[in-house]
Amino acid sequence: MSSDIESELGILAPLDQMMHPYREQFETFDKLPDQGRSRDEVLREIEQFEKIEHDRWKEGFASGSVYHGDDEHIGFVNKVYASQSQANQLHTDLWPSAAKFEAEIVAMTAHMLGAGQCDAPFGSEEGICGSVTSGGSESILLAMKTYRDRARAERNITEPEIVLPRSAHAAFHKAAQYFNLQATVTPLDDDFRADVDAMAAAITPNTVALVASAVNFPYGTIDPIDRIGELAQQHNLGLHVDGCLGGFFLPFAEKLGRDVPPFDFRVPGVSSMSCDTHKYGYAPKGTSVVLYRGQELRRHQYFTIADWPGGLYYSPTFSGSRPGGLSAACWAALVSFGEAGYKATTQKILDAVATMHEGIATIPELRILGQPLGPFAFASDSLDVYQVMDQMSARGWSLTGLLNPAAIHVSPTLRWSQPGVAGRFVEHLRESVAYVRETPNIEGGMAPIYGLAAAIPDRSIVHGMLKQVMDVYYRL
Ligand SMILES: Cc1ncc(COP(=O)(O)O)c(C=O)c1O
Repeated sequence: MSSDIESELGILAPLDQMMHPYREQFETFDKLPDQGRSRDEVLREIEQFEKIEHDRWKEGFASGSVYHGDDEHIGFVNKVYASQSQANQLHTDLWPSAAKFEAEIVAMTAHMLGAGQCDAPFGSEEGICGSVTSGGSESILLAMKTYRDRARAERNITEPEIVLPRSAHAAFHKAAQYFNLQATVTPLDDDFRADVDAMAAAITPNTVALVASAVNFPYGTIDPIDRIGELAQQHNLGLHVDGCLGGFFLPFAEKLGRDVPPFDFRVPGVSSMSCDTHKYGYAPKGTSVVLYRGQELRRHQYFTIADWPGGLYYSPTFSGSRPGGLSAACWAALVSFGEAGYKATTQKILDAVATMHEGIATIPELRILGQPLGPFAFASDSLDVYQVMDQMSARGWSLTGLLNPAAIHVSPTLRWSQPGVAGRFVEHLRESVAYVRETPNIEGGMAPIYGLAAAIPDRSIVHGMLKQVMDVYYRL
């Protein structure tokens, strides 16, 4: 690392190195080339990146990220994308197939999450309905905007609030920031699930929605959705269940006979859900589904303009033009797996998780937080767990550090069900723990950044640091 970069970026210099390893090896374009490069040359360069970046996720070293990743599946969805790469949902006259794909993605996801087993039939005014979005964050942002707008229209609420357990995804805070909602954050119980009494105590006359997760990102635990549903009904509030991570996992774990508490539209108070097709649904990145109980609620999500010189315009989600190819590829993933396919992949992941849980139970310094089913987190009472994470990174793993409590998150994907991967994870974890236990004063890595970020009392300094991280991303 050059000393210039070190003196300019300080503690963030290793991030610059991680984000921009190609600076020296490849030409950097800071403006358009005078003459375009040949397509062959461009393709050759792209192939080089693919070659360098492919092995880590392919061999099962990455938490989340690529949830399926078998060559045949990738080849299939790429073919579908290529055939629809010019399609745009904004122009259904040209691509009515996009409307078919999206209506059916919504219907299939809704039925997977209890639409056929609750009071209002699918397709009726009161039935479960939804939209295809670009990802989990967009699904969550749209749902929160929807509750804000409904409360303004029906209850004249001008200072809306949402109540969310601290394990709810960052996207709810983003929604609060974007849409001027006050987010009231409530604690968790000892099992890392929402404390329902605390949520009840946080409700005010301005509350527009409660939030719960199945499963939450940090710990992979499932909130007591049935009790939160009762609370929502008692107070006549919306309840959004974030199934971005668990939506395509829990229904199949349940069908495989695992003990999955009720979490979807079968719970009467659940009024909306988010569910990511681009995670355990195995669609390529860029799609998710937001679902609502009743079309009236969904209409608060829609955008329409009746007197724009550009014409009569409407759009159901945040984007205007959208990539039709992604919806086609998502639809293709869903119909090619079917229930049997998802059950089979879920079984494989559950087996890998069992191997990892059994392994972690034999490492006395580590403990798993709560009782997760798929994604999970572990902490240590005796070691700096961020140093353990650094050691795992040094062995090739890409894991996520959690704050407060300090812990490591793992979202095992189908890549982790390949022979030997779960066992290798446990062995590397054992080695990493031993190294940290036996090595005093370890320097460098991400541990100091995480340690600092967790400990600084003035959180505005951490906000500033995170903004700097994004500045680093855009450095040439
Ligand atoms: C529970 C949960 N909700 C929401 C999201 C946000 O999804 P995305 O990154 O697709 O915006 C995630 C991402 O990991 C998640 O795990």
